[in-house]
Amino acid sequence: MNPKRIAVVAGDGIGKEVIPQAVHAVRATGAAVEFTEFDWSADRYLRDGTTIPPDGFAMLEREFDAALVGALGDPRVPSNIHAKEILLGMRFRMDLYANVRPVKLLDESLCPLKNTRPEDVNFTVIRENTEGIYVDVGGTFKQGTPDEIAINEDVNTRKGVERIIRYAFEYAQQNGRKRVLMADKSNVLTHAHGLWQRVFKEVAGEYPAIQPSHMYVDALCLQMVREPRQLEVIVTNNMFGDIITDLAAALQGGLGMAASGNIHPGKTSMFEPVHGSAPQLAGKNAANPIGAILTAAMMLEHLGLKQECDHIEQGVLAAVRERKLTTDAGGNLGTREVGGWIAQRIRG
Ligand SMILES: NC(=O)c1ccc[n+]([C@@H]2O[C@H](COP(=O)([O-])OP(=O)(O)OC[C@H]3O[C@@H](n4cnc5c(N)ncnc54)[C@H](O)[C@@H]3O)[C@@H](O)[C@H]2O)c1
Repeated sequence: MNPKRIAVVAGDGIGKEVIPQAVHAVRATGAAVEFTEFDWSADRYLRDGTTIPPDGFAMLEREFDAALVGALGDPRVPSNIHAKEILLGMRFRMDLYANVRPVKLLDESLCPLKNTRPEDVNFTVIRENTEGIYVDVGGTFKQGTPDEIAINEDVNTRKGVERIIRYAFEYAQQNGRKRVLMADKSNVLTHAHGLWQRVFKEVAGEYPAIQPSHMYVDALCLQMVREPRQLEVIVTNNMFGDIITDLAAALQGGLGMAASGNIHPGKTSMFEPVHGSAPQLAGKNAANPIGAILTAAMMLEHLGLKQECDHIEQGVLAAVRERKLTTDAGGNLGTREVGGWIAQRIRG
């Protein structure tokens, strides 16, 4: 089998510290992969004005099986233009419409809720990734005056809504899940989320073995804290998915533990930890590398390397059980030490 080709963009801040640990973990599995690093970041932008080269997205699709990205965002670039062009660029231009975020509690000690065991927090959020308010269609009028108007349009297409809902049902079917819940605000956003309601009912009809259900997103936030056990697969729009996955990350031990994939089945997809560049932590060897390491595991599974994915997940589980963790997760080790321990464990 030809090695899988992975483009690596560590990016900014703690991205530069956690991604090398994710790469170590993959190498420790002996997976047949080839990494190529790209320096797309705030440093590069400040040096020569490049956010992503003109052919960047097409080159990723042409030459790579997947991309592994750290985080983008740097206080030296207040507009965050580089982050927007690289990260949202990949999601939009490569049409990575499914943002898949597994929420799995690895050990009771990591959960801020009392008496909550790993089997109580084990669900996946499927977030629409190419539409909604994130398309940034809108404008301002009479800016800077007391009469200022600011508008951002919420874009929902039939095609976009249908494909993400179908992705959620397919995901449930392929992962042995029995329930798909859609979260929206159709009581208020009657037009946009009325479309989600209609399409959800139609698509659910094609999957009789899977139980569809619905909650308004505010009620879902309450249930995620009160009774996360009832959740299996959640499908929602871009904005709500962004927000609820930070709450979900807290249930699994914090942003440093959370992994995600930006997927278009059959195309070059991009994998990144849920967290950002955490500028205040950067350079201190303090960032939790587990979110990035689990992200790399997810990428391997997506590329058909299930055994290697399992090895990484077992290494992470061992680190959690033996408390080989950074301080945010209740340990006293640094980023490199946690990553090194996990890589060693994977090598066996
Ligand atoms: N996907 C991305 O690249 C992405 C996502 C979110 C934010 N950002 C950018 O990152 C920058 C910082 O944003 P923010 O502060 O809102 O979010 P953040 O995720 O960087 O940090 C939020 C909080 O979580 C903590 N945290 C995050 N990751 C951690 C880790 N691995 N280990 C331990 N603690 C961790 C941080 O210290 C901070 O207290 C901004 O420029 C923002 O635009 C990028």
